[in-house]
Amino acid sequence: MPGVFQLSPDELLRDAANAHEAGVPAVLLFGIPDKKDLKASGASARNGIVQQTVRLLKKELPSLLVITDVCLCEYMEHGHCGIVHRDARGARILNDPTLKILAQAAASHADAGADIVAPSDMMDGRVRAIREKLDTSGFIDTPIMSYAAKFASAFYGPFREAAESTPQFGDRRSYQMDAANAQEALREVALDIQEGADIVMVKPALAYLDLIYRVKSEFGYPTAAYSVSAEYSMVKAAAAKGWIDERAVTMESLLAMRRAGADILITYAAKDVANWLKKG
Ligand code: PBG
Ligand code: ZN
Repeated sequence: MPGVFQLSPDELLRDAANAHEAGVPAVLLFGIPDKKDLKASGASARNGIVQQTVRLLKKELPSLLVITDVCLCEYMEHGHCGIVHRDARGARILNDPTLKILAQAAASHADAGADIVAPSDMMDGRVRAIREKLDTSGFIDTPIMSYAAKFASAFYGPFREAAESTPQFGDRRSYQMDAANAQEALREVALDIQEGADIVMVKPALAYLDLIYRVKSEFGYPTAAYSVSAEYSMVKAAAAKGWIDERAVTMESLLAMRRAGADILITYAAKDVANWLKKG
């Protein structure tokens, strides 16, 4: 991804400090472990890459809001977001055994000091499982930002390359949503709210403005829009060719997400945008 790199904790601290200084209020962390396996052991390791980094950030930059992505794909050899079961019929993702691991990962992030946990796996029942685990572990005040309406999307391509989380077989269609089905997306959002989500997210953003609008108007919940890796990379690529004005196109796209109803914008352009806004 253009301008987006894997960082060590100390490099991340430096980048986060610069972004925060420029006016970015929050970061969303994704971890890439040294070793991947078949049960995502790295996801909830006490000294895992995310847990370590959260501790460092909260110590050095206490006013920076630290949100952690909770998923297993970066920690799995096969790159899927859940436990994989193989038998004569082929490979399947097992929803329920995945919940326990996700809940442990979320609790380990909260224990490290994460301000908000953000499950992105799209397994059924994960918000409830995470809420229960957080509550029984003493993290009753840690909010959940749920990737509630997350579509199976080609717009995640650059991220998967950057995060080394491309599925080694099959695709994510058994857990992520069908791009054609708005009703299902609204149902998923309703379920996540019932299960205890505090913030609901629509992802991708620009191609799904109708969903942002509907989610905000139907539920009136704090709504986040995640402008994903290809949205960002396409703008960068066209700008590099001199075809578009990067700043104007980025600002207009983010404005459209706000106009549609998003309260929170998650974007790889956050630091650029903060600097542009400061300069006026
Ligand atoms: C992992 C995850 C993905 C993204 C965020 N968390 C990839 C995927 O689901 O395949 C996509 C982010 C982006 O494209 O910017 N569950
Ligand atoms: Zn995942």
